[in-house]
Amino acid sequence: RWAAATGDRDVLLAGPRSFCAGVERAVEIVERLLDRHAPPVYVRKQIVHNSRVVGDLERRGAVFVDELDEVPENATVVFSAHGVSPAVRDEADERGLDVVDATCPLVAKVHGEARRYARDGDTVFLIGHAGHEEVEGTLGEAPDRTVLVERPEDVAGLEVEDPGRVSYLMQTTLALDEAEEVADALRDRFPALRGPGSDDICYATTNRQDAVRAVARESELVLVAGSANSSNSRRLVEVAQREGTRAYLVDSVHEIDLAWLAGVRTIGLSAGASAPTVLVDEIVDALAGLGAVEARERTTATETVNFSLPKEVRHR
Ligand code: F3S
Repeated sequence: RWAAATGDRDVLLAGPRSFCAGVERAVEIVERLLDRHAPPVYVRKQIVHNSRVVGDLERRGAVFVDELDEVPENATVVFSAHGVSPAVRDEADERGLDVVDATCPLVAKVHGEARRYARDGDTVFLIGHAGHEEVEGTLGEAPDRTVLVERPEDVAGLEVEDPGRVSYLMQTTLALDEAEEVADALRDRFPALRGPGSDDICYATTNRQDAVRAVARESELVLVAGSANSSNSRRLVEVAQREGTRAYLVDSVHEIDLAWLAGVRTIGLSAGASAPTVLVDEIVDALAGLGAVEARERTTATETVNFSLPKEVRHR
């Protein structure tokens, strides 16, 4: 296997890849709290969906919990980048917990839209994946008025109070083309449908999908660094596959199967918005152990987005 996997290769690095501004901010919040507090610092859910990030922070004293009842009275707890429902905020209040909110501002924006539509009396369709933490949080803004829609096929069976008062929102990390198919199906069925002024799918998701699509077209194999529970990372694999290119999600370099590499001369490489750049470096290093590697950047967009930190950690 090893012998078949050896060879000189071109590696096309999809740009942008790896951390988005919301993930940078969320990780920085936990790091700053760890710098100034004695551990533990509690974090509700994984701060971002990446096992390397979570493992590194755990080693430094972060404690990840599933629910707030695992956090002792008066402790500091961080809400993850994916956001929380108002019920979770209320529970933290009642328990007297010191909350530092790492919700990505672009997720918070969708929560605001959910509140506004629900206040207007709309039935709100949330296009997204059941069970994802971001979806649970957004649904929680108006649980009685919000309906999750996963696929275009789901639209025909939807029942609403008033077809004249309907609106839609999206999870921020969907595949743009698939989400638009659902939105189109909703518009066909409900001509009065209102939607957000600009798409809820965030800039980082859009840019990473465009970039991986471009390298997939030129590659025989695409590798995406990211964890299996990372929605945006999984979408990158699917976008590459829709270009007709073999593509795999790898949580670390150890998950690369040498059989994938046999006879492959050009490899496209990306990383999800929650996956640190070190994972990409490790993959390039491993490929360089199998033959000469020429790594080239293929940049389809440059990003300048930067979110300010919450006041609790703004000053060092
Ligand atoms: Fe925010 Fe988009 Fe990243 S919603 S956390 S900028 S993937």
